[in-house]
Amino acid sequence: MAKGIELKTERLNLRPMRLADADAILAYSSDEVWAQYHDKLPDMDFIEEFVAQNVLAPWADDPRFSIVLDSEVVGGIGLTIDRKYAHGELAYSLAREHWGKGLVMEAAQEVVRWGFEELELAKIWTRADALNTQSTRVMEKLGMTLEGVLRAHTVVRGEMRDEVRYGLLQVEWIEQAS
Ligand SMILES: CC(C)(COP(=O)(O)OP(=O)(O)OC[C@H]1O[C@@H](n2cnc3c(N)ncnc32)[C@H](O)[C@@H]1OP(=O)(O)O)[C@@H](O)C(=O)NCCC(=O)NCCS
Repeated sequence: MAKGIELKTERLNLRPMRLADADAILAYSSDEVWAQYHDKLPDMDFIEEFVAQNVLAPWADDPRFSIVLDSEVVGGIGLTIDRKYAHGELAYSLAREHWGKGLVMEAAQEVVRWGFEELELAKIWTRADALNTQSTRVMEKLGMTLEGVLRAHTVVRGEMRDEVRYGLLQVEWIEQAS
């Protein structure tokens, strides 16, 4: 039985991730520049496991969308929901050939709207490598606030890296929209 819902934006269709998306995801993530904040370049085993986990996870806890542009999977976006506190962690990625067109912003704005309006989350937050200014720029443009820096929190390619956390409260989002 199909699970999940579809969201539409001006340029994009956000639909639940499918097992068949693995090839497209591997194609755009097999890129040293795309993967510079990851520990290593992914291989097919890694991507198949990642996709299977996302597809099998309960939609209510882990809604994962593929970002579809002109019928092509060009990225992914989703929430990991902590129902106890009504928090959702937002994560996203996009094929390099489409960077700089505001596509992830467009997808993220819709997922944030869905999270606050329809899932009634109280807070949506994100994390990124502190050096990933492309990603933190998206967080700032979403109206999120820098909540903290976790020093030497992860290791990327043998190097200890700081992680930043950004957050947006439902009340702030309502205020910003009015
Ligand atoms: C982070 C990411 C999702 C941003 O997506 P995007 O659709 O390009 O985002 P935007 O178009 O809103 O651009 C965001 C910022 O990136 C920078 N940028 C845009 N195009 C760029 C390019 N080709 N190269 C480098 N930086 C670029 C700009 O500073 C831009 O900010 P601005 O709009 O104020 O100028 C995308 O870069 C990505 O998928 N990166 C690899 C995976 C990743 O890091 N995911 C996030 C993990 S936390």
